[in-house]
Order: sequence, then C-alpha cells, then structure tokens
Amino acid sequence: MSLFLDSANLDEIRSAMELGIYSGVTTNPALLSGIAPSEQLEHLGEIARVCRRSLYVQVQHRSPEEMERQALTLVEIAPGRTIIKVPMSPEGLKAAQLLTLKGVPVCLTAVFSPLQVYAAALAGAHSAAIYVGRIEKRGEEGLAVLRQSLAMLEAGNLPTRVLAASIPDASTLAAILSLGDLDATIPFKLHQELLDHPGTREALEQFAGGPPED
Ligand code: E4P
Repeated sequence: MSLFLDSANLDEIRSAMELGIYSGVTTNPALLSGIAPSEQLEHLGEIARVCRRSLYVQVQHRSPEEMERQALTLVEIAPGRTIIKVPMSPEGLKAAQLLTLKGVPVCLTAVFSPLQVYAAALAGAHSAAIYVGRIEKRGEEGLAVLRQSLAMLEAGNLPTRVLAASIPDASTLAAILSLGDLDATIPFKLHQELLDHPGTREALEQFAGGPPED
C-alpha cells in the first residue's frame, strides 16, 4: 500500500517528500499546464531529483505510436522509477501494449469502471488510476468501483495495482485506505489535512512548556 503526492509544484513536493511517507509523485498535463511546453521536460527532471522515488508522468499525444515515442523519452527522466501514464482509450491500450513489451511500466489513467481496470490489467498495465472524485461527481459510487476492481484483479490473479486518484477529501481517503491493498495519490491540500487534527494541536499546546533546563 503506497501513498503518492499528486503535484507538479516543486515546493509542495519538497516539503511532502521530506516526511518520508510518500512513495513518489504523480503528475498529469493539467498539473503541468503552468509550465511552458518547452520547459516541461526539464521541470519533470527537477521533480524527479526532488522526489527521488517513483514518478508518474503522462503522455500527451493521441496516436499509439506518438505516445510510445514520447513515453520512451519521458522514461529517461528517471530510469527505473518512471511510470508512464496513458489515457484509458483504444489508443492508450495499444500504446500500453507497445510499451510493456519494451519493459516500460504503464499506468492507464482516467479510469472510471472496474471493466476498464480489467482491460488495463489484460494489457499488462502496472497500474490503473481510478478517478474516485470524478466518479462521484457523476453520481456513481467511487468506493464501489474500487472495491469491485480489487475483487476482479484478485479473482483473475492479475498483478496490476489500483491507484486511487482524484480523491476529494480526507474522509474519502480514509475510507479508500481501508478497502484493501491499493495505492492512493493525493493533492497537497489533502496532504496538509492528513497530518492535522484539533486534538493533536490541543495536546501539543499542553506539552509546549519547553525542554527541561540542564
Ligand atoms: C491522478 O493521477 C490524477 O493526476 C488526479 O488524481 C486527477 O485528479 P482531479 O480529478 O482532481 O483532477
């Protein structure tokens, strides 16, 4: 069970990674949209240096061949610890197949149903990013999609990891983490909430008398 930070902001990544609780960073084109396209590769390299652990990077092309070509460049950002995100679509699945044949780990992203997770697993994907919050915005049950996906992968003895993504709040995160063996990625705002509790603050204020004198 691993936790990732969903961010492309270097300050956020630095302060979260220092705590030693994250297995890496997930990014997507929206998170990188503030960076000029010509500078994104360099920025991702900087993220890789700061995060030092796994880095999820998404391709932005449409055809399987272009996705494969871009992925082969992106994977060099941090060899051995970069996972390539490709969109859940026929083109994405074709790209996933081409990349997994070359030993590149692939995450199918923008996944909304257990059957899409199953397709990702059959394509040999390392993981499938299930967009829990967006599923719920559509009036469907994000947790049910996660639960059924986990059951399906287990029944088929398929090694693909479930990556719970688009997590809206701390209570949904807690519910997700009690579902079973899955990974989750959270935005910085949720990272801040993760560590905070009024009871802890109150207790720490009581202890704040200062260290004993020598
Ligand atoms: C996951 O890898 C995605 O980057 C992310 O969780 C999407 O979240 P959003 O729905 O808040 O954009």
